[in-house]
Amino acid sequence: MSTSTVSARPAGDAGAGPGAIPVLTASNISIEYQVTPVVQAVKDVSLTLHRGEILGLAGESGCGKTTLAYGLNQLLKPPALRTSGEIVLHDKDGHDIDVAALSGNALRAFRWDKVSMVFQGAMNALNPVISIKAQLFDVFDTHRPGMSRKEKTQRSRELLELVGVDPKRLDSYAHELSGGMRQRVMIAMALALNPQVMIMDEPTTALDVVVQRGILREIMRLREQLGFAVIFITHDLPMLLEISDRIAVMLQGEIVELNSAEAIYAAPAHEYTRKLLASFPSLTGERGAFVRAGGDTEDNTGEVA
Ligand SMILES: Nc1ncnc2c1ncn2[C@@H]1O[C@H](COP(=O)(O)OP(=O)(O)O)[C@@H](O)[C@H]1O
Ligand SMILES: [Mg+2]
Repeated sequence: MSTSTVSARPAGDAGAGPGAIPVLTASNISIEYQVTPVVQAVKDVSLTLHRGEILGLAGESGCGKTTLAYGLNQLLKPPALRTSGEIVLHDKDGHDIDVAALSGNALRAFRWDKVSMVFQGAMNALNPVISIKAQLFDVFDTHRPGMSRKEKTQRSRELLELVGVDPKRLDSYAHELSGGMRQRVMIAMALALNPQVMIMDEPTTALDVVVQRGILREIMRLREQLGFAVIFITHDLPMLLEISDRIAVMLQGEIVELNSAEAIYAAPAHEYTRKLLASFPSLTGERGAFVRAGGDTEDNTGEVA
């Protein structure tokens, strides 16, 4: 007779490997929009994100993905209200941070530094009349007021290089960059302070497939290199199967299935997951093939679309 260790795990930890170390734990999150009638956008959601892991969050438009992401980052504004739940960041220095209790300066210091977010549609929200450099400097001025101009320039160049954009682009304006490059700049901004968690809300949805692949490869490479964890949000379940360690499937505000990407692919437990999988007939390749495919097509100019 063997005893199961699975039941000892916190809620939302399904499918994680035995050595997985939590970085963010969300328990029993409920969020509503207090309009008439009230919209229950997120219902009793629990999930655990581990250090260095890519957790995919899948589900059709309107199921509550963005609302949950805002909730995890303590970004909700009226009429949205978190009515229950706990969010804890297990900081690398060993302390637990009660995210749901943060406000004011403590919250401002937390955001971008510990958890950063690439917002849905962000690449179209870059300020058109301010250079890329000034927008990166903004992040440093707010969070690292001690940095010299030279250090800020150095770090900004380094960040653009990290995401595959020529550092010469620092003096460019958003409208001078392609959609893919703008999204890379947004990712550079989210990386600026070396966060432990990055929440990416549909970061490639508006991009064509080739550009999308390039950016996904970049995210996976950066995750490998820098070790941050990612919550990757999209309605595109096949894409998540390629890049995620684990996947949460959301339906009408609830996480109906959470497991390793392998398990979701091979043996989806929930009827809705099976429906999502069946709605993408091209699911024939091996896991990872989507992102690896087209790897040779990038030119070597040091900059990609
Ligand atoms: N400001 C708002 N007021 C009322 N309802 C909202 C508001 N924003 C979003 N919702 C509703 O909350 C639900 C979840 O939306 P959202 O989190 O944006 O879903 P997703 O990101 O999965 O597309 C939807 O039913 C949406 O209509
Ligand atoms: Mg959304």
